[in-house]
Amino acid sequence: MKTDSFRWGAATASYQIEGAVREGGRQPSIWDTFSHTPGRVAHGDNGDVACDHYHRWAEDVGLLADLGVNAYRFSLAWGRMVDSAGRPNQAGIDFYSRLIDALLQRNITPVVTLYHWDLPQILDDAGGWLNRDTAYRFADYAAIAVAQLGDRVNDWTTLNEPWCSSFLSYAAGQHAPGHTSPGEALRAAHHLNLAHGLGVQAIRSEHSNACVSVVCNLHAIFPASDSTADIAAAERLRRVGNDIWTGPMLDGKYPAGLMDETAAYSDWSFVHDDDLAIIRQPLDAFGVNYYSSSHVFADKRTLTQRIADAGPTCWVADYVDFKTPSGPLTAMGWNIDPAALTWLLKDFAARWPGLPVFISENGAAFDDLVTPDGVHDQARIDYIEAHIHAVEAAMASGVPVTGYFVWSLLDNFEWALGFSRRFGLVWVDYATQKRTPKDSYTWYQERISRH
Ligand code: FCB
Repeated sequence: MKTDSFRWGAATASYQIEGAVREGGRQPSIWDTFSHTPGRVAHGDNGDVACDHYHRWAEDVGLLADLGVNAYRFSLAWGRMVDSAGRPNQAGIDFYSRLIDALLQRNITPVVTLYHWDLPQILDDAGGWLNRDTAYRFADYAAIAVAQLGDRVNDWTTLNEPWCSSFLSYAAGQHAPGHTSPGEALRAAHHLNLAHGLGVQAIRSEHSNACVSVVCNLHAIFPASDSTADIAAAERLRRVGNDIWTGPMLDGKYPAGLMDETAAYSDWSFVHDDDLAIIRQPLDAFGVNYYSSSHVFADKRTLTQRIADAGPTCWVADYVDFKTPSGPLTAMGWNIDPAALTWLLKDFAARWPGLPVFISENGAAFDDLVTPDGVHDQARIDYIEAHIHAVEAAMASGVPVTGYFVWSLLDNFEWALGFSRRFGLVWVDYATQKRTPKDSYTWYQERISRH
């Protein structure tokens, strides 16, 4: 993968690293509320301080520069960029402005995500993603962000993993705001799609040459056996897990069958006449977050039985279940399947030929140990190396991949798992905020320098 324009990067997200939740006019988000609700996040952790990046951003830019990346993917906190009335919040804008200037000085291209899950609480109070109006508020915020920062930022991503902002947040109850209603998840999904479409329009109206993308965690889905029932289950998951985004965004339609098979939860009356035309906007790139593959089988239990067994948290679609393949797992319990990334990229390119793709997140949590001479995270090196090979294999067969971003630069707040899982190339001691590059940092630095 030797092209000068290929992006070698690292990624982070605002709530996971910034801290300083009450500084610079920042409004509270749904993740402040959620993490401060007992029982929601492991060990009662929250992002109040996190990696204190809000104060240590200059040091973190130094880490990126030493790493040798030519791109950095990060997100803006919606509630720093605007005040509770939706007007620009100068202190928040200044924070990101300084960060962007420092990146550009080090020849690091900023790749900015507008929404990585930290919805202002005030919008959740008005219904959050269940309220159609939130999509319009998102477009207003997008226009402000691009008007303020678009002179220096060319790469704009609307949403990160809308699957998590809908299914994990409104059906599984695992992410903020923590609801457990499948019908709500579908409604939220549609409003996120609408937000994406309106957001792309807003970005382009402020910056006609912007490179606009969305980031999805496309599932690499395989039936657990070649039985007809398992194959059908895999197809159903593909509709509700992947095509629910790519269908409207790239083809202007929801996948055939999805509305019928979810009719027990929703009548889909939230889809208005012109919505699909709004959602389908030309995109310049598509970001894929990839960690592991999904092996699914038809679940013979009824939904009632499944909820009795595991609670509503298991709902993706009531008719599929996952099987963890044998082999090594990461500390997240996720399988390690680089070949499935090659498959996923080739499958995507076959369906949407010519649309550039970037790996917007890939990486792994392991139980790292700090020793007197460093953090020897060979398992993370092996994981990243194997996945870069997988990307190269896809490129060799013609998939137009434009970049690869490791998740993550720093150990950080891993959502409902709090600080218990470490994905960083850099170890963070949360008591002192001392950063220690792990072996994987040195390895990635060397890998990038070879190109
Ligand atoms: C993705 C999220 C990211 C991080 C990784 C491990 O789903 O986009 O913020 O938590 O998982």
